[in-house]
Amino acid sequence: MGKKYFIKTFGCQMNFNDSERIRGILRTLGYEPTDNWEEADLILLNTCTIREKPDQKVLSHIGEYRKVKEKNPNALIAVSGCLAQRAGWELVQKAPAIDLMFSSFNMHQLPELINQAQAGYKAIAILDAPPEDEDALWEFPTERDNPYCAYVTVIKGCDKNCTYCVVPRTRGRERSRSLESILDEVKKLVDEGVREMHLLGQNVTAWGKDFENPLPFSELLYQVSKIEGVERIRFTTGHPRDLTDDIIEAIADIPQVCNALHLPFQAGSNRILELMDRKYTKEFYLERINRLKEAVPDIALSTDIIVGFPSETDEDFEHTLDVVREVEFEQIFSFKYSPRPGTPAADMGGQIPDEVKTERMGRLLELQKAIMSRLAKRYEGTVQEVLVEEEKQEGLLIGRTTTNKWSTFRGGRELLGKVVRVKVANASPFNLECEFMEVVR
Ligand code: 5AD
Ligand code: SF4
Repeated sequence: MGKKYFIKTFGCQMNFNDSERIRGILRTLGYEPTDNWEEADLILLNTCTIREKPDQKVLSHIGEYRKVKEKNPNALIAVSGCLAQRAGWELVQKAPAIDLMFSSFNMHQLPELINQAQAGYKAIAILDAPPEDEDALWEFPTERDNPYCAYVTVIKGCDKNCTYCVVPRTRGRERSRSLESILDEVKKLVDEGVREMHLLGQNVTAWGKDFENPLPFSELLYQVSKIEGVERIRFTTGHPRDLTDDIIEAIADIPQVCNALHLPFQAGSNRILELMDRKYTKEFYLERINRLKEAVPDIALSTDIIVGFPSETDEDFEHTLDVVREVEFEQIFSFKYSPRPGTPAADMGGQIPDEVKTERMGRLLELQKAIMSRLAKRYEGTVQEVLVEEEKQEGLLIGRTTTNKWSTFRGGRELLGKVVRVKVANASPFNLECEFMEVVR
């Protein structure tokens, strides 16, 4: 019987894509996936440190997973990702059941780490910067669940150094993937039947700046759109400072680029933005958004917001609410500020009590709820194009509009992977109930 692996992923889309890469590597080693950790020969936790204290959570998972060794003494427990990067040996001391550990810089060493661990050694590989041969990793196969929409990592790391953020410490400096390597992967994906390419990076809009002959991100959008068979292109996450006019024009210009953009603004108060070192003002952000809305009138916007950054007053927070009111995001992802060890903001005075963060968060979510209901109503009666992704229940299909709205409608499996036209009968913030009209492509 073949060996099985069980993987649990925490955190962001980048981490999710890393897991897909790890799964690709495990496949080449003869491992099959399983949803039941009790029957796994390898249990892997791909961890995240961005917003919470992951240590306890991961330790308690390991406390449970280590029982796997009672039945199968050869089973291995692995920890990867940002917590592995940060905690290293310390974590192994706390949880000796861990057999191997690697950070995102060492993913390509997984085969040798498994060998070492099987020989009875603790196999730990944690570089504090990307290795020289990092690019070789792109050649590993990636294993994906969704056959029609794929994440394609195009840049790793972040050079921005926002004062609250741990990412530059765990993921390193910006390294763009070469245009050739990206286009190769996209072509391969098209051949496999993928229709939507979701370009990923901690700071995707900075792609190409670090090349010897720099290229603008908008050029990447044009190049990907020219590949026959690419139906849709999405990208996350951008920084407002890097959302240059050429990118806005590319979104408007290229039919394949979806009418949706995730653009974190984090806070509305200029004083807080300065403390965050975001390098823009509320006015600058709103100007970019207005420019976008002019160029792409039906664009759906989403954002990230941090509530309760050190020294944030009620008055500061009003500016955050102000931006939310003015922009009308289809979706917001809001987080209570969480001090990350080693970041400048963690040592700032004026840390905000949790009750105050909770109260502000409540106000923010209430405002957003009203906006979302209002925006959803605008969909009712409209005709939308949906890329059909999955059969949710028998005869019930689900997919997304170009504005990233989940839509359900009745139809048969032969529609999977097709772009179809539907009419919206009933709209709520998280789902459009639709009626099937026709196949478009
Ligand atoms: N506390 C709270 N939220 C954070 N984020 C990043 N770091 C922190 C932190 N220390 C949020 C930001 C970012 C998103 C991915 O996570 O809003 O855009
Ligand atoms: Fe978490 Fe950030 Fe690391 Fe992603 S990059 S896994 S969000 S800490």
